[in-house]
This record gives sequence, C-alpha cells and structure tokens, in this order.
Amino acid sequence: MLLKGAVTMDIKVPRGTQDILPSETGKWQAVEELIREQCRMYQYKEIRTPVFEHTELFTRSVGDTTDIVQKEMYTFQDRGNRSLTLRPEGTASAVRAFVEHKMFGYADQPVKLYYMGPMFRYERQQAGRYRQFVQFGIEAIGSADPAIDAEVISLAMSVYQNAGLKKLKLVINSLGDTDSRVSHKTALVSHFEPHIAEFCSDCQNRLQKNPLRILDCKVDRNHPLMETAPSLADFLNEESAAYFDKVKEYLSILNIPFEIDPNLVRGLDYYNHTAFEIMSAAEGFGAITTLAGGGRYNGLVEELGGPNAPGIGFAMSIERLLLAIEAENNEWSEQSTLDVYVIGLGEAAKKKAVELTYQLRQKKITAEMDYLDRKMKTQMKSADRLRAKYVIVIGDDELEKESVMLKDLATGTQNLIPLSSLIDQIKTSSTQLEAEE
Ligand code: HAM
Repeated sequence: MLLKGAVTMDIKVPRGTQDILPSETGKWQAVEELIREQCRMYQYKEIRTPVFEHTELFTRSVGDTTDIVQKEMYTFQDRGNRSLTLRPEGTASAVRAFVEHKMFGYADQPVKLYYMGPMFRYERQQAGRYRQFVQFGIEAIGSADPAIDAEVISLAMSVYQNAGLKKLKLVINSLGDTDSRVSHKTALVSHFEPHIAEFCSDCQNRLQKNPLRILDCKVDRNHPLMETAPSLADFLNEESAAYFDKVKEYLSILNIPFEIDPNLVRGLDYYNHTAFEIMSAAEGFGAITTLAGGGRYNGLVEELGGPNAPGIGFAMSIERLLLAIEAENNEWSEQSTLDVYVIGLGEAAKKKAVELTYQLRQKKITAEMDYLDRKMKTQMKSADRLRAKYVIVIGDDELEKESVMLKDLATGTQNLIPLSSLIDQIKTSSTQLEAEE
C-alpha cells in the first residue's frame, strides 16, 4: 500500500529495454510462427536453455578479448558467490547443452537446434540496438560438410524472404582453419606492432592476444594501417580455400546471391572457416544494417569439454527483422481473431450472455462481451473495433423465444436463430467464410 505522503517514483522501463504492447504482439507472433514453420521445414528442433549461465561459459567461448565479454555482459554474483551472466547470445548455451546432454551420441547427426528468446548486452541504445533483445538462432552441430553451411545460410534467407523482404544482401568470408589463422596472426602482429602506440588501449591489449579484433575496432577504424593490414584471404591454406570454394558452389546451386568481404571478421572468437552476415539494403533502415550474423565454429565443442564435433549457425534479432519489414513498407494485415461479440440487453439477458460467451469459447469459437454495462450502440462500436465477424444480440424478446439475433458484420444481414442450433450455424458459416477467403 502506498502511504500518504510517500514519494511516488516515476518508474519507467530500464534503458535499452522495451514493452511490446498488445497492439504490437500480433506482429511478433506472426514472425515467430513464420520462423517456427521454417525450422519445421528444415528439421531444426527447438532447445530452451536458461537465461543465465556461469560467466566462464562466455569468456571461454565468445572470448575474453571481445567487446561482448569485456564491456557488454550483465554479470552478477548470486547469493552463493557464483559468478553468473545473463546470456548475451545463444551459441555458447546450445553447445554447452550439446556437451552436457551428450547429444554427440544421438543416432541422427548433425544435431540441428534452434532457439528463440531474450539475450542481454550492455550496449549503447539506438534504433535496432537494445540491451534486451530477442534472438532467433540455429545451430547445426556434428558436420563439417560445406553443404550444411549453405543450408544454414539458406534458412536465414528464407525467413527474411517469407517475411516479404526483398532488399537483402548476403556477405560471406572465410576465416580459415587454425593453421591459416596462426600465420595470419603472425603477419598482423608484425604489421601493427611498430605503430601500436597510435592505437587505442583496447587495440594495444588485443595485439598479442587477438590481433584480428583490431580490424573490428570502432575507435581506430580510420587509421591508415587498417587498410593495408594483411588480409586473411591471402593466408588461407589449400584445405581452407577448397572448403570456402565448396560453400560458394553450394550457395550458387541454391541460387543465393552473395558478396565476398575479406574484412568480415565477426565480433566473437569461436569462428573459423565460413563467416557471414545478412544486411538490409532498404533505404531508411538506419545506421545498423546487419540483420543476422553467423558462421562456423569447429573446435568450440571441444573447448567446452566435448568431442570433436564441428558446428555452424547464425542468429538474428526479431526486433531488426520487424524494423526491416517496416523499412520495406510491408504491412502485416492483422486478421480478425474474434468470431462473436455477445450483447445482452437487460439483467436476465446479461446472464444469458455470460453463459453463452462461456459456451462459445468451450466450443472453440472466440467470443467477447461487455463488462461495463454500456449502451447497445457503444457495444456495437466495440464489436466493430475488434473486427468481430458476428454480433449476437439477446434481449427480452429473444430470451422468450429461446433464440438470439445473429448479425453478420461483413454483410449486415441478421437472423433470429434458435439457441439450440446457434453454435452449428456459426461454425458452418465460419467455415464457408474461410473457404471464400
Ligand atoms: P551476433 O552477430 O553477435 O552473433 O548477433 C547476431 C544478431 O543478433 C545480430 O545480427 C542482430 O540481429 C542481433 N543482435 C545482436 N546484438 C543486438 C542488440 N544489442 N540489439 C538488437 N539485436 C542484436 C551471435 O550472437 C552469434 N551467437 C550468432 C551465431 C550463432 N553464430 C553461430 N551460431
């Protein structure tokens, strides 16, 4: 209870988070349904993991020199003094679960997983960038076939295409295998070392630990040494180059256009071989154009205590998908979800209306009624606003005749229908209506 004189606080949602209001959730559900449908098509099965994990999971997988681990994690100590972190992404948890539940022993390999849920990153808020956002991601673990790289990319593209997006750009790169990366790393260190004092303190730390991260630096991105930095493409060994060629070939077989960007390094440490991002090329999409990102992570399962099981996946945020839909001016036409609005006029009819509304719902007919004792005209307006298919009116007359007045809001026709055949009548006309649509 609020005490008299107590200071009332103006409490709002925390920065970087948002309420998704009932007027918006329809879009979310439509997109989520589309995604689940695509996952069924491609045979990816949902996995649900905790929203928080041991902090070490992310430092070991995402990498302790990455921005995510160094600057963006919501890490806290629980009452048992464990260091826990709200998950900033889903791959680490999926791989942890793969190892923990010995999914590598499943008869069907690769194991194909998907997840959809909130992720948390302490980032500067702007359009398309939030501190809590919903990621949909997939992981295919247990195959090093370049054909599955193409499958993973095609699923992401397919989600966007089915959402009506046309202005998409797929960018791919190869980060090579460990050997290729080691020789590239040596070349990067020799390139940057003589001038490292001119770089930010983050880059100075990255020089020995992870010089590839320097190429991803937002502070020093215009330093002249960035442009002349040795490109990973020139350090790919034969095996890595051949793998990349096959991925490109499969993408061509699937008719998926792509661009190659040798500077695409991605912001997480577990990647090797294929890396990709999908951007929106829609005008007015805003500064952040990346819709989805992913790549191959051979070695991560071993890093987290499992056997040698190569993996690949991607993730996209639902928020950015919805922004892209808006930027391409694609409207989601919201379907009416209300079959019947029931109006009871007078005390006795009100009781009948309460009973009937309940019965309709039991028979899987969506029904709504008034709980504010408003006038008939106002209730009719509500029915219109809710885009009800039918209105049922019960007055004293109808009660006496054990009937109701059933009005079809699309045609305007109304008929007196006996209560005994009402449900059948609504069901048959609804099926007819759906068939006509
Ligand atoms: P990521 O590039 O860090 O990769 O994030 C993937 C996607 O999540 C981004 O392209 C974007 O759609 C969305 N996203 C990231 N941060 C935010 C944010 N602050 N606000 C809104 N949306 C955001 C990963 O997370 C990897 N786990 C992807 C992956 C899966 N790689 C292999 N498997």
